[in-house]
Amino acid sequence: MRTQYYCAMSLDGFIAESDDTLQWLTGYAGSYDGADTVPMKGTYDAFYDGVGALVCGSATYEFVIDEVTEWPYRWKPCWVLTSRDPPRPEGEGVDVRFVQGSVSDLYPEMRAAAGDLNLWVVGGGNVASQFADEGLLDEVIATVVPVVLGAGKPLFDRRLPGGPMRLTGTRAFDSGMVELRYELDRIG
Ligand SMILES: NC(=O)c1ccc[n+]([C@@H]2O[C@H](COP(=O)([O-])OP(=O)(O)OC[C@H]3O[C@@H](n4cnc5c(N)ncnc54)[C@H](OP(=O)(O)O)[C@@H]3O)[C@@H](O)[C@H]2O)c1
Repeated sequence: MRTQYYCAMSLDGFIAESDDTLQWLTGYAGSYDGADTVPMKGTYDAFYDGVGALVCGSATYEFVIDEVTEWPYRWKPCWVLTSRDPPRPEGEGVDVRFVQGSVSDLYPEMRAAAGDLNLWVVGGGNVASQFADEGLLDEVIATVVPVVLGAGKPLFDRRLPGGPMRLTGTRAFDSGMVELRYELDRIG
């Protein structure tokens, strides 16, 4: 039962280009065959199996609904932080909840909905920073894509409270991406 910020980032710490495009990620085709390599295939599904509920900002949500024909997170509640009323996907199992306000006020309901599984903070960086500021983030799992963008949307949009995170694991994938897993201290 953990609150996890799971995302992909460029080597210089961006999760999207300034115009929100992700071609650097979706179009990436690298490889790595070192002795410590781990197959990338199946790693997202293994992570997603452990997710009981999701939360994201409205820009991330709108990016997803623009890109896909079918809502990818059916049967799992997804909180979308927004002050607006964006379009809602249709279909069986779609559970999208538009909310606004402080993440610490909203957190108990998200946590309860996740049950014994994890809460996935999908992003973006500002939403992840809101959770970190309130001491609600347990883990950052960032998969580094070996591209340098020079500018874009940052992994976090401000300095994090507390000391350094603790490294708890790394995996070098056969794609050439590297997963970094860190634990944070909860505050309060
Ligand atoms: N590489 C990855 O793994 C990854 C992961 C996630 C996202 N992304 C990308 O990152 C980009 C978006 O990131 P972003 O940081 O720009 O935006 P974002 O976090 O997705 O959305 C920010 C917006 O959410 C709303 N919001 C945030 N907190 C709120 C709160 N507490 N209450 C009410 N509304 C709140 C506000 O908009 P309104 O009030 O106007 O709605 C705010 O402008 C997209 O391109 C996305 O695809 C990449």
